[in-house]
Amino acid sequence: MSRHFWYDEWREKKDRYARTDEPFLDADRFHSIAAGTGLPAIHQTSTFPFQSVTDGAQRFLGTSKSGEKPFARIYTRLGNPTTEHLERVLFRLECQHLIDAALAADERVPSVGVLACSSGMAAVSCVLLGLLDSGDEILAGNVYGCTDSLLRTLESKFKMTTRWVDLTRVEEVEAALKAHPRIIAIYLESPDNPTLAISDLRAIGRLADQYRIPLVVDNTFANPYLQQPFRLGADIVVHSLTKYVNGHSASIAGCILGPWNFMQTACFSIYKDLGPTPSPFDSWLNCLSVQDLGHRTEAICRSAAELAVFLADHPRVHRVHYPGLPGHPNHRIAMSQMRNGGGMIAFELEGGMKPARKLMNFFARKDTPMELAVSLGSAVSYIQHPASMTHAGVPAEDRRARGITDDLVRFSVGLEGVSTLRDALIRGLDLAYGKKQRNRD
Ligand SMILES: Cc1ncc(COP(=O)(O)O)c(C=O)c1O
Repeated sequence: MSRHFWYDEWREKKDRYARTDEPFLDADRFHSIAAGTGLPAIHQTSTFPFQSVTDGAQRFLGTSKSGEKPFARIYTRLGNPTTEHLERVLFRLECQHLIDAALAADERVPSVGVLACSSGMAAVSCVLLGLLDSGDEILAGNVYGCTDSLLRTLESKFKMTTRWVDLTRVEEVEAALKAHPRIIAIYLESPDNPTLAISDLRAIGRLADQYRIPLVVDNTFANPYLQQPFRLGADIVVHSLTKYVNGHSASIAGCILGPWNFMQTACFSIYKDLGPTPSPFDSWLNCLSVQDLGHRTEAICRSAAELAVFLADHPRVHRVHYPGLPGHPNHRIAMSQMRNGGGMIAFELEGGMKPARKLMNFFARKDTPMELAVSLGSAVSYIQHPASMTHAGVPAEDRRARGITDDLVRFSVGLEGVSTLRDALIRGLDLAYGKKQRNRD
């Protein structure tokens, strides 16, 4: 029996509507859902007046028909129409296949709910706090630095234990689930931040089913255009919308998609009480930028694929981590669950940190494309050093065990165009290894 009261009902719907052999939504359908039917108004208000005491009471009971969502139009911390518009688009981008299948079966009860949050970390926090009770255990692998530190904080403050395993090895996952019966969820990123390791979502999803626990997937590095984890067997999906969905580094936001009953109860209760609601304006910005998410992602990934090959062939580059390269250890699995190799590349330079530092400092200059900065998924390319930046908080021993070496550099490819970025990398690498700068003309 599952520890989660909502699990059995969801599981039946998951098997019927969510998991499918077809891993992606047709690209044109994705683009047309994303483009949508226009932008919402910005409801820049904290409070919504009730029509009567009965109306107010019904809204608090979640039974009012006037709101599109239970608890909508009460108070913006609980929901806001601009944010709801964004939530509906994100829901369709991740779950259109599920909606189609449920409607075809005349299923009227919603299967999946969605909540937009004020940051990706707010989304991760609500999911973890919604799932875990004191004394519970969770299985996780290499994750973003703040997710890692949140799991460690939950451990030290609330006696929840994280069992860390290499999630690229399905046999390790299976062994850990067998050995630790108190594990109540699996949490993973694929591709992971920052090593771009790939987990087999289908295989881990099946193991999660077997143990009747949810598989939570942070889909930030892929985004819904590149990977749709519900199709592959995930139960809960989180995103930092700050990255590809926003696409312009203009705001911080996140979202959660998960089983309706989990979202309405355990998750919503944390959400409304902690208050990680996005501002209506930030939601509006994301309604705008999600409209061309698929096209932007395509352009970024085309450049990334070429730049990964360029870097892999460069005599000074010791190792390239890019799921689209045939030499990536989980290339085959990546290609079976992602539309292409993605827009993120990590690499290690010959000679270690000294030339890597020079290369990154080159991109800190104002006369170069790219910025030395830690976000990703933007029109602007970013380069950063995970060991001293995004993953500085992960204990050094764990960092090394997860492949976050001191000389690993993370590169988020933007929209500058492949020749611009390749030329800049050539200049930066020449400089890093003391070669004379070539004439740029
Ligand atoms: C994989 C992943 N998940 C979650 C987050 C947190 O997102 P945010 O910065 O929007 O809180 C990040 C941030 O870099 C991330 O890379």
